[in-house]
Amino acid sequence: MAVEKTFVMIKPDAVKRGLIGEIVSRFERKGLKIKALKMVKLTRERAEQLYSVHRDKPFFNDLVEFVTSGPVVAMVLEGDSAISVVRLLIGSTDARKAAPGTIRGDFALDIQENVVHASDSPESFEREYRVFFTPEEIE
Ligand code: CMP
Repeated sequence: MAVEKTFVMIKPDAVKRGLIGEIVSRFERKGLKIKALKMVKLTRERAEQLYSVHRDKPFFNDLVEFVTSGPVVAMVLEGDSAISVVRLLIGSTDARKAAPGTIRGDFALDIQENVVHASDSPESFEREYRVFFTPEEIE
């Protein structure tokens, strides 16, 4: 068994729509452990840091505008194969193509306003959680 941690962010669209409880509850019901959780409004600098791998993409500016448009909920989850399990639970990036039963499949219809973000690798996790938490906070 490979216990892993992953980083998840509930985006401003979902916070505005009152979906925090529904989304957190899906992770809890799956058996993932919440190691840390906080609600904050990202500054432009921290949003750019979070999405630095997309800096050269045509959607980068819109993405930064979107994720700074209201508070987000950041969390670190832990469990067996947490990175791939959480990616399965959230569904495809393009919510129009996300399978029913996934978080994006059930709650979104857009490629940008797609409700949640989750780390896609251990390297992404290490970089992304530090935008919100210190290593001591997620022990
Ligand atoms: P996320 O999983 O957080 O990773 C990058 C984000 O960029 C993505 O979800 C979307 O919110 C946003 N995005 C906007 N347009 C695109 C696009 N064409 N392809 C991928 N991601 C996009």
